[in-house]
Amino acid sequence: MTRVADRFTDKSCLVTGAGSGMGRAIALRLAAEGGRVTASDVSAPGLEEVAGRAREEGWADRFHTAVLDVADEAAVDSVVAEVISRQGGLDALVNAAGILRAVHTAECTTEIWDRVLKVNLTGTFLVIRAALPALLEAKGAILNFSSTAASFGHPYMAAYAASKGGVSALTQTLAAEYAKAGLRVVAVAPGGISTPMVDALELPADADMKNIMRLMPLNGHFGSPEDLAGLAATLLSDEGRHITGVTIRVDAGTHC
Ligand SMILES: NC(=O)c1ccc[n+]([C@@H]2O[C@H](COP(=O)([O-])OP(=O)(O)OC[C@H]3O[C@@H](n4cnc5c(N)ncnc54)[C@H](O)[C@@H]3O)[C@@H](O)[C@H]2O)c1
Repeated sequence: MTRVADRFTDKSCLVTGAGSGMGRAIALRLAAEGGRVTASDVSAPGLEEVAGRAREEGWADRFHTAVLDVADEAAVDSVVAEVISRQGGLDALVNAAGILRAVHTAECTTEIWDRVLKVNLTGTFLVIRAALPALLEAKGAILNFSSTAASFGHPYMAAYAASKGGVSALTQTLAAEYAKAGLRVVAVAPGGISTPMVDALELPADADMKNIMRLMPLNGHFGSPEDLAGLAATLLSDEGRHITGVTIRVDAGTHC
């Protein structure tokens, strides 16, 4: 693993969606840079795998896991409180938990719509709300996960795009609300990163593939979760101190 700095020594970090993909890569990166990290996810097997990796690296004493469905308000409140208590506060929060469903909008059931909004947008809000007092005390930073779907047309992903547009708006609003209190809130908008979410994506059988191909990164290949981890660490660290209220695209120019 690339080790560029120790920007998180004595820092307390919580990452949701850390059992896979970009959340996993960021949790490991923050730990590699010295952080006390709790990796949380709804998937217990994903967490076992990432905890095993942390043990191999020798970080077991400061790398914990917590099974958590971010859409479960009571569970969010209790798990976030436990993390803050165990780690003695909270400096960095990453909201990477997310789900994607691709269907024709005419066939998007209310159930699909509600679940996508509940996990991606409400889940992000719930975790932030529970963590805010500790983050404000630490003058910490929040990194949210938006998507290029929020700004550009991603066919068959209406609920997902709406949820991610909400995440960008939430990011900007919180940044404005808490800037004077010293809390920074930023988002990344990935596009074309190879993770289980993208690799296992099921499109409608009659999907217009020409329209879908517009979502390919312009450099011709998918990125890896690690392509985001260094940027995430920089944004969350003191080196990101002059950056707040932005959503940064990490998509190899997909929509240039
Ligand atoms: N991969 C991409 O190209 C891409 C593009 C734009 C945005 N994103 C966003 O990046 C974030 C990370 O996604 P990824 O691509 O690494 O996918 P991923 O599927 O590898 O990781 C998402 C993780 O979120 C977890 N999760 C799902 N529902 C949850 C819930 N209710 N509570 C807690 N955890 C839950 C999953 O178990 C999984 O471990 C997501 O928010 C996703 O929407 C990804």
